[in-house]
Amino acid sequence: MKRVLVLHGPNLNLLGTREPSVYGTVSLPEVDRQVREHGRRRGVVVDCRQSNLEGQLMTWLQGAEREGYGGVVFNPGAFTHYSIALRDAVAAIRVPVVEVHLSNIHGREEFRRHSVIAAVSRGQISGFGLGSYLLGIDALLATNSSNRPTGRTGSPAPRPGRRRPKSSRRRSS
Ligand code: DQA
Repeated sequence: MKRVLVLHGPNLNLLGTREPSVYGTVSLPEVDRQVREHGRRRGVVVDCRQSNLEGQLMTWLQGAEREGYGGVVFNPGAFTHYSIALRDAVAAIRVPVVEVHLSNIHGREEFRRHSVIAAVSRGQISGFGLGSYLLGIDALLATNSSNRPTGRTGSPAPRPGRRRPKSSRRRSS
């Protein structure tokens, strides 16, 4: 993976002044700077974009592969909790998407505890502030190129150390 796209959803342009007790005091340009720097250390080019508009985020997700990105780190903001359109966009694309949140959404209000995006993402990282984005990049680099969430579809992965039943073993000649 050579290029990663970081997408910030609604209200994240206000980082630094928005509810600092929840989201911290670091501004969005500073988050982006550190995220790009982290990517550089890992050998990937990171581009960061923010939009308050659902349709714009959808267009960027749909175009990610065409634009040459190997993966997307996505903080959908409040859309996390109800945007079926963004959920469908994430499910539709082939590049892996990692959902990230600055705050730990599972420790907050009830309405924030559910993500409609999580099940179609490769995984979710929540609660580490700016670190969630850095971990998101590392997670993408550790993942294979498909956006299929592990453990959600298909047959279960074989348990390590277990032999397959005799009937399904290949003969070696
Ligand atoms: C957020 C959590 C969301 O519930 C909230 O609406 C946001 C930010 C986070 O990064 O912690 O806008 O995605």
